[in-house]
Amino acid sequence: MAKARNDLNDLSGKEWIKFTRTWFVCDSPRYWRNRPTELHPARFPEEMVAEFLGFFTKQGGAVLDPFLGSGATLVACSENERVGVGVELSQKYARTAARRTKGASSPQMVIRGEARGIGRKGFWQEWCRKLEAAGIAVVRGLPQFDFAITSPPYWRMLQTSRGGVFSKQKQRAARGLDTTYSGNPDDLGNIADYGRFISALGKVFDGVRRCVKDGKYLVVVAQNLRDPDGSIRPLAWDLARRIEKRGRGGAYWRFQGERIWCQNTKPLGIWGYPKIFVPNYHHHYCLIFRKSR
Ligand SMILES: C[S@@+](CC[C@H](N)C(=O)[O-])C[C@H]1O[C@@H](n2cnc3c(N)ncnc32)[C@H](O)[C@@H]1O
Repeated sequence: MAKARNDLNDLSGKEWIKFTRTWFVCDSPRYWRNRPTELHPARFPEEMVAEFLGFFTKQGGAVLDPFLGSGATLVACSENERVGVGVELSQKYARTAARRTKGASSPQMVIRGEARGIGRKGFWQEWCRKLEAAGIAVVRGLPQFDFAITSPPYWRMLQTSRGGVFSKQKQRAARGLDTTYSGNPDDLGNIADYGRFISALGKVFDGVRRCVKDGKYLVVVAQNLRDPDGSIRPLAWDLARRIEKRGRGGAYWRFQGERIWCQNTKPLGIWGYPKIFVPNYHHHYCLIFRKSR
């Protein structure tokens, strides 16, 4: 029997299978060594992005991150010969991302903008020539990426401290570092109502879908959350349901399953002891969707 062609990535069969295990540990040596958390209050590790790039793209593939933050996705793209485009609302983080990718070996583009506009032609108008020059096809005014990966704001969690003396928020505040992304009303992390927040995020991923090729993938890194009042908001699960929701058009994001990113060196907070079980959330869901019809 002829061997099936691998159109998705450059991995061997063994590497492919290894990746399909639904959990992995990533503590990002670079993250702790260089303390780049100072760049941004909620980063994900470049090493983790690199693993996903390796599975969901081939060398030279084009990648979109609609919530770029300090640019981990583009740094990983540049280190792995992928072409990256990131959208970020905050001027400060957009500048950080641009600085971190200056002189990259493959084209990396930082767009300061509002992620809810991504599905509209007008959003891309002034970027079309640059995108095409970077080898990204533009079809009917919209760029066509091979893959999208991102981590959205985890609702308004950055604005809340869970009260412990060593809470990350308190430590950052004491060191004069950012504890929220911005005060911008377009910042989705500033939406007070949870339902409205989920629906705003849903709109972003509807737009991203228009900019990803058929059959290709989206990975959204999200976490379930504990509100200071003690209630659990299953953000990752709610988001998975909303992103998969089918609209009137033909294409939709089909949920393909998750990989769980475990953090093994994060200090444990003493939240409920000795009265009540309160989880230390040291894992995130990497929700995987495929553009289907
Ligand atoms: C969880 S962070 C992303 C962190 C990034 N993965 C990193 O490693 O630095 C989410 C980002 O979304 C940005 N953001 C919030 N609302 C946005 C919007 N409407 N459009 C674009 N970016 C937005 C925030 O400024 C923040 O930097």
